[in-house]
Amino acid sequence: MPQRDFNDEKDQQLESVRTDAEHTRLTTQQGVRVDHTDDSLTAGARGPTLLEDFHAREKITHFDHERIPERVVHARGAGAYGHFQPYDTWLAEYTAAEFLTDPQIRTPVFVRFSTVAGSRGSADTVRDVRGFATKFYTRQGNYDLVGNNMPVFFIQDGIKFPDFVHAVKPEPHNEIPQAQSAHDTLWDFVAQQPETMHMIMWLMSDRALPRSYRMMQGFGVHTFRLVSADGRGTFVKFHWKPLLGTHSLVWDETQKIAGKDPDFNRRDLWEAIETGDFPEWELGVQLVSEDDEHSFDFDLLDATKIIPEEQVPVRPVGRLVLDRNPDNFFAETEQVAFHTANIVPGIDFSNDPLLQARNFSYLDTQLLRLGGPNFAHIPVNRPVAPVHTNQRDGFAQHRIHRGRTSYFDNSLAGGCPAVSGQFPEVFTHYQEKVEGAKIRKRSDSFKDFYSQATLFYNSMTQPEKDHIVAAFRFELGKVEQTEIRAAVVDHLNHVDHGLATQVAQGIGVPAPQQEATPNHGRSSPALSQLISPVASA
Ligand code: HEM
Repeated sequence: MPQRDFNDEKDQQLESVRTDAEHTRLTTQQGVRVDHTDDSLTAGARGPTLLEDFHAREKITHFDHERIPERVVHARGAGAYGHFQPYDTWLAEYTAAEFLTDPQIRTPVFVRFSTVAGSRGSADTVRDVRGFATKFYTRQGNYDLVGNNMPVFFIQDGIKFPDFVHAVKPEPHNEIPQAQSAHDTLWDFVAQQPETMHMIMWLMSDRALPRSYRMMQGFGVHTFRLVSADGRGTFVKFHWKPLLGTHSLVWDETQKIAGKDPDFNRRDLWEAIETGDFPEWELGVQLVSEDDEHSFDFDLLDATKIIPEEQVPVRPVGRLVLDRNPDNFFAETEQVAFHTANIVPGIDFSNDPLLQARNFSYLDTQLLRLGGPNFAHIPVNRPVAPVHTNQRDGFAQHRIHRGRTSYFDNSLAGGCPAVSGQFPEVFTHYQEKVEGAKIRKRSDSFKDFYSQATLFYNSMTQPEKDHIVAAFRFELGKVEQTEIRAAVVDHLNHVDHGLATQVAQGIGVPAPQQEATPNHGRSSPALSQLISPVASA
């Protein structure tokens, strides 16, 4: 049993704002009891409604303001509370983050699973990536691991994210189609951007049709950095493995279920937790020493690449359990705000350009979605770690800051809040040496677009390959422009000639005559045999 269970702390925090309707009497927002809420105050039984009817005005005004913008992506989701606990202390050699290294600490978490492209009311069982975002309420502050159920991403640089999402979302003139994959703009984007090919292979695979959120892997995707108490950096990839194994639906099932029960995945999660069948995941890490940064035949900063587990094994770190459903979907699941830049001492970023853009985007979008700069006060977002800032005012300020000072440095409040302490007691940015000319150019080390797509396809069993072929035929077959279909088939020919031929035959474009030179003629070195010294430690 853990000695220090901070679950209680988070729960107490939430308890202080929970309200129940039972045994209460109806009041206004001001606490004034009302005798009647079914009829407006009118001048005479059939006359006009009076402006002085404060109860009717307040009731309707509040209703008018009930909706907030849905997330620009990942709008549909389901969340749950739980806890995380490391098995062991071994990772302390690499990170100062105590929630990953002290088996005595059980850290409360909130996890939100989501689809990406559909709107808030769309069906669960669509062909899509799934979000797997975890907020750890650690004693050193909130840490958010904002991942997906696939280990790579569509693009390499976040500046392309608005283009990508505009291509994925329903077309702007008629808001059709809701489904992620089956439309011209997505495939037009794919045809223009071969960097998407590895992720497109995942998207056309059964991984895009999870049977249950409880049966999904999760990945941090980017290479992050762990920082040890003595300031040493180690590259890391995060993995979640479900205890129930990884399982998918088949395409035909997803179509039927989407019609009969669009809430299939969220219902499954909710009911499992309600009945005490708590889902579990194991957190694992792949570690790469900084000395090995350039030892791979892909770039560690390229989010379209995995680190093959044969090269760097995944080492287990701890266990995540989800054991409590939220009390209120809007207050908790809708208002939770994850952010890749929410990190704690012992974890830091890499220079992955996709991650760097995300570190800007999440806070920015939440300022709009959650109505201003005070959304960290919303109970689900509030850390269990003490919070003392000099930030003041703003819409919906919930704190009553006492005293005369809200600036640093001051003498009037004894210099508080103080800036003192040493890493890892305080967060200190990892001192990475950076130099170079300011340029707007993708690194050449990012330009192998096909090798890992091939690796993925080759790792599939025959039925899985058949599903991939069928998915490409179904999705690409709906694209109106033959040129786009042919361009995608050409990319597929660089992944696997047989795959490209089968897809072409199913969608009415000429099959490629011969096998393409891998990677458009760029040399594609065999995956190195390197086993990282860190990985084998
Ligand atoms: C939302 C994952 C790339 C911008 C999300 C969510 C997840 C996620 C899981 C939903 C969070 C929730 O449940 O509330 C990822 C992963 C990415 C990626 C794994 C690539 C590795 C990007 C990029 C950008 C971006 C490149 C922008 C440059 C957003 C925005 C939201 C979002 C704006 C909505 C956040 C909100 O409204 O709270 N992403 N994303 N994402 N993502 Fe990403």
